[in-house]
Amino acid sequence: MKCRACRAGAVIELPRHNSALCRDCFLAYCRNQVSRAIDEHEMLRPADRVLVAVSGGKDSLALWDLLLDLGYHVDGLYIGLGISGYSEPSAGYARAFAQSRQARLVEVDLKGHYGFDVRSGAAADHRVPCSACGLSKRHIFDRAALEGGYDAVATGHNLDDEAAVLLGNVLRWDLEYMARQRPVLPATDGFPKKVKPLVRLAERETAAYCVLRGIDYQVDECPMAAGNRHLGYKEALGLIEERSPGTKAAFYAQFLERAAGPVAAAAGTNASTSLHPCPSCGAPTTSQLCAFCRLVERAGGDPKKRIPVSAG
Ligand code: AMP
Ligand code: FES
Ligand code: ZN
Repeated sequence: MKCRACRAGAVIELPRHNSALCRDCFLAYCRNQVSRAIDEHEMLRPADRVLVAVSGGKDSLALWDLLLDLGYHVDGLYIGLGISGYSEPSAGYARAFAQSRQARLVEVDLKGHYGFDVRSGAAADHRVPCSACGLSKRHIFDRAALEGGYDAVATGHNLDDEAAVLLGNVLRWDLEYMARQRPVLPATDGFPKKVKPLVRLAERETAAYCVLRGIDYQVDECPMAAGNRHLGYKEALGLIEERSPGTKAAFYAQFLERAAGPVAAAAGTNASTSLHPCPSCGAPTTSQLCAFCRLVERAGGDPKKRIPVSAG
């Protein structure tokens, strides 16, 4: 198998592009896909300070590496979720990457900062673990970015993630969720800008990128996510993609191009009008106390603790 671009020996086949690439051309392809996503959706400006949320998995470490290579000023943010057998090794991969690139990693430990971990927080707030986890992560991403003076938070959501979420939203015709499913969410009062620069890269491509770049990452899936609906949608899309390469990318890209605008108009955008700052943490909320502070209180922690992120 020869590289489609330079005729050297290919290391990866890309059926959806009807192509195969050698190591160097594949790494260039990944960089190019990320920089196209950034330009196409006006995600970042060259001088922006970016906080990349790193889980220790392939996507977020590939993203951190790619953004550094593209010349952005990027620090990492790792959140210790206290999931036994999973969180510690994940933190190790994030720390090792930061050290190898001499990059700054901000760490926030749920238990240390707020007094609970995903399991105990979920039990105290009568939620499933993934819900307590998602709520905590979103809150900490926002607070850390705002308090650290970052221009944007970048997450490692890839094409497979976004297509699977879209499929779930379409199956339920959930227009409100579809309206918010954008690769970039602009900064609004009390929320930082959020960007997903990997939306043009598939999961197997970010895995191959890490392997070829020598980046070690957490291979295991979170044990609490096993069997969830999202993974089922990914598998279903994987089967369709095998038969008809390119379907997944078209499903997502055509949504953005043709459906996202009308869907947002149909869903309406009046939700932000009743937002006010949470009296405990300052995050915008429609309730008396924001959902994260309620979770912290129920779990017996202190919602007023500040995240130690300096503008450094
Ligand atoms: P997930 O919600 O696990 O699918 O992860 C989606 C994205 O959230 C990842 O690509 C990361 O950018 C970010 N993320 C997930 N877990 C963590 C974590 N423990 N700390 C910081 N960022 C995370
Ligand atoms: Fe959040 Fe698994 S990473 S519950
Ligand atoms: Zn709050």
